[in-house]
Amino acid sequence: MRLGVVVSGKGSNLRNLVERGFEVVAVATNRPSCGGATFARDREIPLGELSLKRFESEEERDIAMRDFFMAHGVELVVDAGYDRIHTRPFLEAFRGRIVNVHPSLLPEFGGGMDAVEQALQSGVDVTGATVHLVTEDLDAGPILAQERVPVLKGDTVECLRERIHDAEHRILPTAIRLLEARLAKSPAVGQ
Ligand code: GRF
Repeated sequence: MRLGVVVSGKGSNLRNLVERGFEVVAVATNRPSCGGATFARDREIPLGELSLKRFESEEERDIAMRDFFMAHGVELVVDAGYDRIHTRPFLEAFRGRIVNVHPSLLPEFGGGMDAVEQALQSGVDVTGATVHLVTEDLDAGPILAQERVPVLKGDTVECLRERIHDAEHRILPTAIRLLEARLAKSPAVGQ
């Protein structure tokens, strides 16, 4: 299935998908200088550079992102480290076809950008990674895949984050394959 990937950060999940042979046909970013955007340019993947400052509102930006993905025939959207929340025009266009990867075992430590820090500070023994469908409710759409990651004695945020990233690199491909199989039985985008 043709993937559109949205990035704001380092881009390790994007790289992992490309290296595993997923068909990434377009990448969109709100941060044109981020690692994920650089990776897309290097690999000559069409890149939508959609900084908020170019638009009147988040909604206007999301309309541009929707149109950019649709122009490239995107069938499934992957939020791989996107640090904003999609607004209605984007959600409606790709309803049931947007996945997000989150660095905790949702519903634990959802709703923020500091899930790894929160897990460490809270003293839990186990945290993890989750891939879920994106809905209007932040970090609360149906879960597609999860992997547990133990918190080790003496862990730093960096060490723990790295092991969570490793888990993400395993479960994101799994979740995408699962959703692709489900979507193969449903109507195409926009129908
Ligand atoms: C991941 O930890 C993901 O869970 C979170 O943002 C991070 C993105 O990492 N939403 P990368 O840019 O794919 O390396």
